[in-house]
Formats: sequence, C-alpha cells, structure tokens
Amino acid sequence: MAVPLVDLKAQTQALKEEIRENVLAVLESTQYINGPSVSAFEEQLAAYTGAAYGVGCASGTDALYLALRACGIGPGDEVITTPFTFVATAEAICRCGARPIFADIDPITYNLDPAAVARAVTSRTRAILPVHLFGHAADMDPLLQIARAKGLKLIEDNAQALGGTYKGCPLGGIGDVGCFSFYPSKTLGAAGDAGAIVTNHSDIAEKVRRLRDHGSSRSYYHEEHGLNSRLDTIQAAILSVKLRHMDRFVEQRNRVAAWYDEALEGLPVKRPVVMEGCGHAFGYYTIEVDNRATVQAALNARRIGNAVYYPLSLHLQPVFAYLGYGLGDFPKSEYAQGNVLSLPMYPELARAQVEEVVGALKDAVGQKVR
Ligand SMILES: Cc1ncc(COP(=O)(O)O)c(C=O)c1O
Repeated sequence: MAVPLVDLKAQTQALKEEIRENVLAVLESTQYINGPSVSAFEEQLAAYTGAAYGVGCASGTDALYLALRACGIGPGDEVITTPFTFVATAEAICRCGARPIFADIDPITYNLDPAAVARAVTSRTRAILPVHLFGHAADMDPLLQIARAKGLKLIEDNAQALGGTYKGCPLGGIGDVGCFSFYPSKTLGAAGDAGAIVTNHSDIAEKVRRLRDHGSSRSYYHEEHGLNSRLDTIQAAILSVKLRHMDRFVEQRNRVAAWYDEALEGLPVKRPVVMEGCGHAFGYYTIEVDNRATVQAALNARRIGNAVYYPLSLHLQPVFAYLGYGLGDFPKSEYAQGNVLSLPMYPELARAQVEEVVGALKDAVGQKVR
C-alpha cells in the first residue's frame, strides 16, 4: 500500500460544502480584492493566536519580509536566525538589505539555541528570528529575555507551527510579530499561496497593511516603497473554513504522532520530542536515522512518501556564500541535515498507514536500539 507524504484530498472532501459556500459567496460578491472575507479571516487568525491584530498577505515569504520591514529592519542591520530552516527565513532578511547572522540549533527540537543566540548578538543586531520548526516551539522565554535585555525585536517564523503552543500560548502570538504561511501542505493550508502576520502592536499592523498595498494607506497616495502582497480573497474564504476546524486537525496530527511513537519504539530511530510545556502542531513527523539513504531507498521501493527537510543548512548554501560561513560552523545543524527524515503526516492518516510506513522502515533500520 502506497502512503503519500501529504494527502490534501481528504480534508478538502470533508469540508467541501463549507468551502463551496464561502467561495461562492466571494464570487457572487465580486469583491475580489481585500473583500470582507479577508478582514474576517484576519480577525479569526488574531483571535486564534491571542494577538490583537492580523494582517493577511500573499505568502509566508512575504509575511517575513513585511514583518521585518515593519520592525524597521534595513541595510546595515543584523538579524539572528537559524541555519536549519527553509531558505525563505533568511531570504526575507536579505531582501530588506539586512544581514542574516546564523546561530546553531538545539539538537532535540532543531530550533535556535538561545545560548548560541546570546553569543551572536552584536551592536548591529536588531532582531531575533526563530523558526518553530516542524510544528514545535522554539524556546521563547530565554529568547524573549535576550530580546528585552538588548532592545531587539522578536519575530516568529511560524510557517510550520500554527496550532502549536509554548507554555499555554499559541505560537505566532508570543513575539513582536508572528509570520504564517498557508502553503497548501502547512497545518492550515490554502488552495494556493497565502500568508499573514499577527501582532499586538498597532503600529506594526498598520505598517504591514500599508506595505502590502504599495506603501499606501489611501488610494493613489504612497508614503513608502511597498509591494502588492495582498491576501487573495478566495484564499481567505477557504482559510476561514479550515481555521474553524484547526483544533481538531492538530489533535488528529498528535494522534498520528502517538501511533508513530508507539510503532517506532525499540527501533534505532530518534523520534520527535515534545518539550515540557509545549504543544506540538506536528506539521511534520521528523525522525533521525543513521543510515538515511538506505532507509529512504526502502521507503521509496514501497512507494512510501518521505522527505528531507533540509538537506543543506543555510550557511552552506551557495546563495549565502558571501556571508563567509563554512563547514563546521554550526555542527548541530550540519548533523541534522545529514540524519533527519520526515515521514507521511496529515490529520487524516490512518493507523494502518502508519504501520505500513513503520513496517517498511523496520526492514531498513534493523532492530538495534541506539
Ligand atoms: C520555515 C518556513 N518559513 C517560510 C516559509 C515560506 O512560506 P511560503 O511558501 O508561503 O512563502 C516556509 C514554507 O514554505 C517555511 O517552511
């Protein structure tokens, strides 16, 4: 039995009627740009994350860029972030004219290690940009402490972790700004590209609103350089439906993760760890194995979806060569890039499918406990 890495059909099928109703309402309203569905979704997202304001935009990549710009990040500034993330995190820093400064990760959660962040702060640092990778929170308290002590902005890249929590607080609503991607396979997925930010600062919310619409708060009057990064109204209508069911999706993802944990018990595999006080969104179920190529070949042979997020840390990517980093600079990130493997994960995954995945894995990893 083939098992896909992600299956978007089941969720779309289950919510078809609600989605159809919302999408048709937009079509019939003809308010296709910044229609009422956009502000309704923005309010719903803010409420879900416990923030005062939500502002939609065209993608998670733009959300990061807009958040950085709204925090005043620009040329000459440094922003500390993780090398073990999707390229968009650091790309957004560069797009503002600022410089990404990498700090190594905690090998348990794969998220920014606060001690490494503290060591990376200089007089040019303006912000810290942690990523809640795979759905698990970065250790926010010590990061907030550093940010407060040094007068830095804390911007959360929450592209992968909507639905996760840290000490009871929803991820994305903890720092100065939280950035979201609604890429279709994320924990909240649109039917195309979409993104948003949430914040408790009215000035940041207003600035993102302005920047996403050509730097203008009044039609045809432009205060600063912006871009067209509005959240598509039809996407907002779809996202509103799905956000209503978010808690159930996260519960289902956690149930799938528990099945994996149980089935993988005793195998020489490092399973995901949920740190005390954290609620995992399980955007991904990511394990570590010593012989990844063999394991991947075994999974591929049985048509079982798998992926490596991420095979090359950002400090080693050609695009960031000019930053002057080299192999050995961030050993924990480099170790992770060589050993992580993400297995099929989506809310509707059945227990029999999880067992199929683990059955295929077992043949490849052997029975030795690491
Ligand atoms: C950690 C992280 N940051 C940023 C992004 C960018 O989001 P988008 O694809 O919506 O631009 C993604 C996902 O694609 C991501 O995983």
